[in-house]
Amino acid sequence: MQQESEIIERLWREHRIDAEGLRTLLATKEQACLEELYARARETAQRIYGNKIYIRGLIEFTNYCKNNCYYCGIRCENQGAERYRLTKEEILSCCETGYGLGFRTFVLQGGEDPYYTDERVCGLVSAIRERYPDCAITLSIGEKPKESYQAYFDAGANRYLLRHETADEAHYGRLHPPELSLANRKRCLYDLKEIGFQTGCGFMVGSPGQTAETLYEDLMLIRKLRPQMVGIGPFIPQKDTPFGQMPAGTLEQTLRLLAIIRLLHPPVLLPATTALGTIHPKGREQGILAGANVVMPNLSPVNVRKKYALYDNKICTGDEAAECRLCLNRRVEEIGYQIVTDRGDYAGDVPSGD
Ligand code: 5AD
Ligand code: FES
Repeated sequence: MQQESEIIERLWREHRIDAEGLRTLLATKEQACLEELYARARETAQRIYGNKIYIRGLIEFTNYCKNNCYYCGIRCENQGAERYRLTKEEILSCCETGYGLGFRTFVLQGGEDPYYTDERVCGLVSAIRERYPDCAITLSIGEKPKESYQAYFDAGANRYLLRHETADEAHYGRLHPPELSLANRKRCLYDLKEIGFQTGCGFMVGSPGQTAETLYEDLMLIRKLRPQMVGIGPFIPQKDTPFGQMPAGTLEQTLRLLAIIRLLHPPVLLPATTALGTIHPKGREQGILAGANVVMPNLSPVNVRKKYALYDNKICTGDEAAECRLCLNRRVEEIGYQIVTDRGDYAGDVPSGD
């Protein structure tokens, strides 16, 4: 059996891990080894990005969704979700506020909302592009045909977030209704990358049915796809969903996986997510200390924040963007890091696959 220290050493030197090594690191109770893992991940992030933390302004512009994912609070069958959709003017006003607060990346996230046709999405993207030529525009609006992605890119979008959720076929089927497939999810990710988007995949930690084996497949997908971003956060039950009574993912497992992903794919942009901040009051700080280098506070108008309830007890739903900005500044500085306001582009264009 491999020792924890050997596994960490190999991750650090060769950026590799095998299934058994992953199982060992996820199960170990050796506190000293975990400290070593986090320290190596932190050093790796600092070598590439210094003590800089990038911020992205998240605009949750619609919670209508035609999909019915079992874990998600805005699934179409959730009658309890109060639906809303921001207008183009409201979205532009969020960008204006955000720009004033130093945000140079806007992330437009929403459910798969049929109202937002390609034409409307492109109209929105080009309006933001025209007003903020120095900003990165990130879309996170789900699975689309390649032509749609190309149209968004041509309209001025630069980045796209689409978590793969799990790279294991059977596990994918446990989390999603039959009309959704892992094959199409992967097709989307490869299309996005090919078009030239800085692309982000990712998954929830502790989703029902997840095992060390399914997580190993997630890591292998990351190694192969070489995404510029990876978003991970704990699964948190939302009470009106089929998984409403399932246990949440843990802080510990999320931190371990953040560190492993940093070591496996050093230049990756890795957010300390809102979900991580939700399961523990210092979750995001601990995420940074385990190798994360991005935070994504909310820029959505306060009156809709509670409605974008993917999971229960989400933090910051009552805080204005300016409050979150100050709060994050303080939190990040307390642990010796600094929020920077540049676009924060990916720092390592490594050849894909191997
Ligand atoms: N808990 C944690 N994360 C969730 N997401 C959706 N539902 C939940 C939940 N209950 C995540 C998914 C999705 C992202 C936008 O939010 O991974 O891709
Ligand atoms: Fe929103 Fe702290 S980040 S209040």
